[in-house]
This record gives sequence, C-alpha cells and structure tokens, in this order.
Amino acid sequence: KILANTIFLGKDLINLTECHSTNEIARNLIKNGAYREGTVVITDKQTRGKGQRNSTWHAATGLNLTFSIILTPGFLPVHQHFYFNMAMANGVLSGLATLYGEVQIKWPNDFLSAEGKKLGGMLIENSLSGRLFDTSVIGIGINVNQFSFPVPNATSLASLTGKSYELAMVLAALLGALEEQYLKLKDGALEAIKRRYLDHLYRLGSWAEYNDGHQFTGKILGVAPSGHLLISKQNGETQSYEPKQIRFI
Ligand code: BTN
Repeated sequence: KILANTIFLGKDLINLTECHSTNEIARNLIKNGAYREGTVVITDKQTRGKGQRNSTWHAATGLNLTFSIILTPGFLPVHQHFYFNMAMANGVLSGLATLYGEVQIKWPNDFLSAEGKKLGGMLIENSLSGRLFDTSVIGIGINVNQFSFPVPNATSLASLTGKSYELAMVLAALLGALEEQYLKLKDGALEAIKRRYLDHLYRLGSWAEYNDGHQFTGKILGVAPSGHLLISKQNGETQSYEPKQIRFI
C-alpha cells in the first residue's frame, strides 16, 4: 500500500513482481478499456524496460522505481501536447526536490543531478484521437538505492545523499507532485508550466557542443509548442530538432 496524498492518482495501483515493461502493461490496459484515469502500474523487476529514443532502460531489481501512469488529457489540443510533457516533467522535478534538491531537465525528459548525472528519465507514449489527446502513458524510471551503474554519468538518490530510501515513500512523493502539476495544466496555467520547465532546462542559453550528423556549437533557445528543441548556431541560424535528430556532446 502506498501513502500518496492524492485525489485520484495511484488510487488504482497494479503492483507486479516482474514484467517486461510497465508502459507496455499500461498500454494493454488502455487497449482493453480496463482502466480508470490515474491508474499506476509498478514493478520490482522490469526485464525489457523501454527508454527514450528507442533505447533500453536498465534498472536494478528492487532498488529503483519503475512505474507508469495512465492519464487522459483530452482537454488539451494536440498542437499543445508538449505542455502535457512539461507538466509531467515538472511533477518529477517537484517530487525529487522534496527528496534530494533541485534537479535539471535535459531535454526532453532526462532528470539530472546538480552535477549533471542522470538520476532518471521519463517516456511518454500518447495515443491521439483526432485533434485531441486521448490517453497517455507516462513511464518514469528513477534510480533510488542503486550504487553502481552499468552506464557512465548515472547516479541515484542514495548515491547523492548517502541515505537509503523507502521506494513507497519516493513513489508517494512523485505521485503527489505529478497530480498537482496535472491539475495545474487542467486549470490552464500553461505559461507557468512552460516557465518552470525552462527554468530547469539544462544548458538553456549557454553555448555547448551537439551532434546532428555533424558536430557543432550551439545554444539552446527554448522548446517549441510541438516539443522541438530550438538551437541557435554560431552563424545565427536557428534550427529545430526532434529527440532522435540531435545528440548532446
Ligand atoms: C529514459 O530513457 O530516460 C527513461 C525512460 C523511462 C523508463 C521507464 S521505467 C518505467 C516505464 N516502463 C518502461 O518500459 N519505461 C518506463
């Protein structure tokens, strides 16, 4: 049982000892119409976790949080869909802030510690019907009690603070913050949501190295409503990118 202080998020909680991917389980619930908004699927052991940009998400069994949420943001027009993404990222930011401190967002959905190490990430899979959002699966992976990592530049809450965390407590903090941000979005606080996301955006406004097929020096200007990253190049030209089109060096 979790102690999340929420109105609807996590009231339906599916807790699995093992599965391929909680996002996949959530998508199947949607396909079968067998869910209520706010359903959360969580697992101790994820054997085929899906990451952003078609990557694989590895999480050590029992030490980390891997969960997915089902939301139905049908009130938001499709051309504003990135506001939903930003609201969810802000929710993770706020949840992590109560447990560790301020984190940064590496566009679109990586969460970085103050020293730039990856603490977790989010994969949102939307199904759209017509011009409106239909259902969305928000998959979140946060490194919590893990101390060694198979990839460079990764970290966990415990590595950062030296404390170990109860997973149910971390989940409760995240769900509370995510629900709050979702309700803000429903209230139409779009500008505030964007401002908070940009305030935490890694490398915003500073020159750094990128690769879009060629390595170049660029400066992140912001994010378009479509979710494209806007980067200015040294020749003054501005380019917009989808996640798969650009790599941070
Ligand atoms: C990343 O690539 O930065 C992380 C993506 C999100 C991983 C989570 S873990 C729970 C959920 N189920 C999945 O298969 N992926 C997401």
